[in-house]
Amino acid sequence: MKNIIIANGSPRKNWNTYKMCESFAAGVKEAGGEAEIINLYDIDFKGCRSCFACKLKEGKNFGRCAYPDGLPPVLDKISNAYGLVVASPIYCSDVTGVTRCFIERLTFPFFEYKNGYPSIAPKKLKTAMIYTMNVTEELSNQMYPDMFDKTEFMITTVFEKPVRIFAYDTYQFSDYDKFVVEVFDKNKKLKQKEEQFPKDLQNACEAGKNMVESI
Ligand SMILES: Cc1cc2nc3c(=O)[nH]c(=O)nc-3n(C[C@H](O)[C@H](O)[C@H](O)COP(=O)(O)O)c2cc1C
Repeated sequence: MKNIIIANGSPRKNWNTYKMCESFAAGVKEAGGEAEIINLYDIDFKGCRSCFACKLKEGKNFGRCAYPDGLPPVLDKISNAYGLVVASPIYCSDVTGVTRCFIERLTFPFFEYKNGYPSIAPKKLKTAMIYTMNVTEELSNQMYPDMFDKTEFMITTVFEKPVRIFAYDTYQFSDYDKFVVEVFDKNKKLKQKEEQFPKDLQNACEAGKNMVESI
């Protein structure tokens, strides 16, 4: 079975990023694959501790992160999958800290310190990134000209180059009137939510189908 792991790096379940994950998963299933969404915020883990067990000569965990917390079972599952999706909201001009920690732990063990930095990942996984954010596409292009490339650098190095899926200008609050919000117009946000977000979900679904079909 062509199984795809979708790592949701948003703390909010049932919000924008999670819904994009669900749509991607629906596309995977439509194309005959299997999809599992893993909520990273439910797992007890931190970033790389620099223990270097993954780089130890003749070490039993060479090329693998085995730091004893909640993440290694997830990393092992990903190593055996056919595809990986990493989904994150943009927080303070980057992916969430938890997403960042996850990418460190996942990719660093596969990045061998040999000439040319060969990847020792068991499989060249198909990959995709889902990004959701408050800013519009135009502002994102101005504000984050190289952030996505930097975020994806290690993933591209050890697996395949990710397909990118975006949801811009997302609806952030359940009720805009309850919060101090001057910079976003709630009516424009609502229009975006009702008219554009369904299209973003459709894009995620198509990307899910395409990933399975490309395996
Ligand atoms: C702590 C925090 C920081 C944020 N920083 C940014 C930012 O720098 N740029 C941006 O466009 N949106 C920013 N946002 C908005 C979220 O990226 C956006 O609402 C996203 O779609 C939320 O995803 P979710 O609905 O899955 O939680 C921030 C939100 C939070 C909570």
